[in-house]
Amino acid sequence: MADGRKKQEKQNSFRKTMNKFSGKFGGDVSETGQRDPEQERERLLDQIASMEEELNTLRQSGGQLDQAFKQNEKLTAALIEAKNRIDALKEEVEKLTSPPATYAIFSGVNDDESINVYVSGRKMRVLLHPDISGKDIKIGQQLVLNEALNAIEVCGFEPQGEVVRVKDVLDPHRLVVMLRGEEELVVELASPLLGEHISVGDHLLLDAHSGYVLEKLPKSEVEEVVLEEIPDVSYDNIGGLESQIEQVRDAVELPFLHAELFSEHKLLPPKGVLLYGPPGCGKTLIAKAVAASISEKLGDKKSGKDLRSFFLHVKGPELLNKYVGESERQIREVFKKAKERADTGHPVIIFFDEMDALFRTRGTGVSSDMEATIVPQFLAEIDGVERLRNVIVIGATNRQDLLDPAILRAGRLDIKIKIERPDKEGAMSIFKKYLTEDLPFHPDEMKKGKNNPKKIVESLMKDAVAEMYSVREENKFLEVTYANGEKETFFFKDFASGAMIEGVVSRAKKHAIKRFLDSGVKGLKSGDLILAIKQEFKENEDLPNTTNPDDWAKIAGRSSEKIVHIRTMAGNASETREVETVATGHYL
Ligand SMILES: Nc1ncnc2c1ncn2[C@@H]1O[C@H](COP(=O)(O)OP(=O)(O)O)[C@@H](O)[C@H]1O
Ligand SMILES: [Mg+2]
Repeated sequence: MADGRKKQEKQNSFRKTMNKFSGKFGGDVSETGQRDPEQERERLLDQIASMEEELNTLRQSGGQLDQAFKQNEKLTAALIEAKNRIDALKEEVEKLTSPPATYAIFSGVNDDESINVYVSGRKMRVLLHPDISGKDIKIGQQLVLNEALNAIEVCGFEPQGEVVRVKDVLDPHRLVVMLRGEEELVVELASPLLGEHISVGDHLLLDAHSGYVLEKLPKSEVEEVVLEEIPDVSYDNIGGLESQIEQVRDAVELPFLHAELFSEHKLLPPKGVLLYGPPGCGKTLIAKAVAASISEKLGDKKSGKDLRSFFLHVKGPELLNKYVGESERQIREVFKKAKERADTGHPVIIFFDEMDALFRTRGTGVSSDMEATIVPQFLAEIDGVERLRNVIVIGATNRQDLLDPAILRAGRLDIKIKIERPDKEGAMSIFKKYLTEDLPFHPDEMKKGKNNPKKIVESLMKDAVAEMYSVREENKFLEVTYANGEKETFFFKDFASGAMIEGVVSRAKKHAIKRFLDSGVKGLKSGDLILAIKQEFKENEDLPNTTNPDDWAKIAGRSSEKIVHIRTMAGNASETREVETVATGHYL
């Protein structure tokens, strides 16, 4: 080794020097005992030379030592660093070899500060780390448990789980939900859902281990179009239309409520009903009321047993989709859904509102010929309904004349019920629904009616209906001229509808409120209704512009006659309009 040899050399030269020193002091004595000065000088010179040499070597060693020292320092630093690294690795190894922590779902705090959690479906009472307050943890939140099963850390909410559908809301904390395959489960709401509006049919995220529902999920497209909730409308909300309601009940309610009688008499229940007639007269209202009534009666009839009925409300225009085949797919989905419910014994009403948006006579489409595929899809589905005893289809349309005739053929929507505009009597009944006896009435009316609310309402309605249905000059609305030269005048009453009456009453109530705020005199009076009717009348002035002239002909019962002229007469404006030619296939 080079280092070893160097050391050896150094030692040797040192010994040599010492020898030389000892020679100097001890001295080499000649045999004669005399020191030869010349020799002595030589020797000393020698010694000096060797000492100088020695000094040089020493100087060199000093440099080497310095270097060694520096190297040493470097080495120490490296060693310290290595030690630190080993420590860190040790920690890592410890972490990696520690037992796994368990996740739990928080359920609540107990009086003794311990908490209840669910661990893989098991409810456990565990202790909480003193630094964490039980009050800060939300129901359904995740916790980390250590080896000793103490909760040591609070985490967020589980983002994954099962999709379930709400079947019933039991109380503000609990729901009945449906799992796959019609299995039902009672679940609790986790913190994020408490206070949220949850309704039947909603899709929720369920953590199956804890039984908490954590999140409201967006519904699929079809589900947004199709509402499953039983509507909150009863026959009592409908004014007039008694005979129509009876017809609908016979066609829809009887087969559902007395299925056994129908089968005993070998009578096939109808598959479908079409409600048709002018807009705003109660078609949608009736369909909803039928569904609500069936649902209520089935609940009564076989109490204890769950005989919930389903109402699939399909809004025609919403199902209309610009993507080719998409509307067809959704129609298929609607019937599939109905089938699923019906197969488990639940009666299902499928309500296609505003049908004319979807099921036009084939070959008449303006924008595209989508009817060519949608209509057959609907026919195929409704023909398939035969096999499902528990399904009935109700359709509604303002324009039954536009529907493809195949839809109205026997075995499809073959029961057709016309929902007419209200006559005077009907209008009275509708007014009664909105002008109730518990409203505040103006002092003038109170005096006139001798403080008897029933009398007051009666008189208000009479005034309003008289105004609406009067055939005096001011109430002339429209004059049409037929191709054969005959003229016919239509009055405001010819366009009356439930929706309009409801609008009149709302408007009148607003007038009364405004007057109260201005003058401090509270209550509704006849004048409010009259004014409201006049305003409604004016607002409808432009009706002929936006509606198909054929409609007027139908109102007059003269559908065969072609209209060549329309003149609006509402208000003072008596302006003449040429009939705009609107193709019958166009949806208005
Ligand atoms: N016969 C009626 N009795 C009470 N309200 C009615 C009646 N007809 C219509 N309405 C009111 O007008 C609104 C629209 O009626 P709707 O049933 O939707 O008409 P459509 O025949 O166009 O389906 C209803 O929500 C209701 O407020
Ligand atoms: Mg409607």
